Amino acid sequence: MDIVLSGIRSTGHLHLGNYYGALRNFVKIQDTHKCFFFIADLHSLTTHPHPEDLHEGVKTILAEYLAAGLDPEKSAIFVQSEVPEVCELYVLLNMLAYKGEMERTASFKDKVRHNPNNVNIGLLSYPVLMASDILIHRAKYVPVGKDQEQHLEIARLLARRFNNMYGCDVFPEPEAFNFGSNLVKVPGLDGNGKMGKSEGNGIYLCDDERTITKKVMRAVTDSGPTEPDSPKPEVIENLFTLLKLVSEPETVQFFEEKWNDCSIRYGDLKKQLAADICKVTLPIRDRIESITSDAAYLRKVTEMGREKARASAQATLALAKEAVGLKRF
Ligand code: TYM
Repeated sequence: MDIVLSGIRSTGHLHLGNYYGALRNFVKIQDTHKCFFFIADLHSLTTHPHPEDLHEGVKTILAEYLAAGLDPEKSAIFVQSEVPEVCELYVLLNMLAYKGEMERTASFKDKVRHNPNNVNIGLLSYPVLMASDILIHRAKYVPVGKDQEQHLEIARLLARRFNNMYGCDVFPEPEAFNFGSNLVKVPGLDGNGKMGKSEGNGIYLCDDERTITKKVMRAVTDSGPTEPDSPKPEVIENLFTLLKLVSEPETVQFFEEKWNDCSIRYGDLKKQLAADICKVTLPIRDRIESITSDAAYLRKVTEMGREKARASAQATLALAKEAVGLKRF
């Protein structure tokens, strides 16, 4: 059975980008694949969160993922730092990752630009830890959004380099996965590229109806089309991208026609978009609170997940160490 793995950093709340970029695809294949899903608390350390916030963050994301449909009976749901084998593989892979390669990744350059005073080595080798997360389970498919494509490319590169260098076949090359379609980039509503936690432009699965409506109604627009069938400027394209994710095809078609004949009213489009987002997120929101307050359940989920993940990780690590020549007497 093919192995599927995905992960999320343990900061903030789950937004529509996380949901449509990664989680929704993951939930769909839980029945047919061997699935691993984890919360990347070690990755979150690059920004030095307060210790209490770090743990709260893991709990929040865990509860939100469970509320959104991850099933601990079907998938291994675990916390990254509870599977120490990943750190051991990280050491091995770091020896195969070159400084120049890491410096050239878009996410690293972006972080350096935004945080020039915190360019730590963990940040530089962030993609190596991510590769270790994936390769330690020999995952074949990785449901992620478009923003992670370059990181996946590095995971493939390191898998290949390891196999070539040690003349073995320990690691399959993982593929970014979206059911054969292009990877998704969910835009923000502020006209500034992708929806993201650090960007502060998210619509969160825990938002209530009023908050969602307010955020959508405030979305940046323009003064409207002046000629039939004109191309859409980016801020309007963003609204349509979201509409395509949450609404029925007829609804999208309706507004496409309104755009094309210049009779579109952005207020109507936004109202519809807000209502359709609520339809997706509010049932999830209803479950978040009860799951968050059930400490015993969260403990059980992570214990089950840890056990499954460690068994898989130990098996791979043994192969990798053997290949490298790290052998016991
Ligand atoms: P993170 O926490 O930024 O995001 C988690 C997942 O959500 C997707 N995503 C999006 N997809 C589409 N549009 C958006 N606007 C959007 N924003 C976020 C991301 O692509 C991701 O799939 N480095 C990873 C966490 C990680 C990981 C891994 C993922 C660590 N190890 C191994 C997969 C496999 C991250 O920071 O994701």
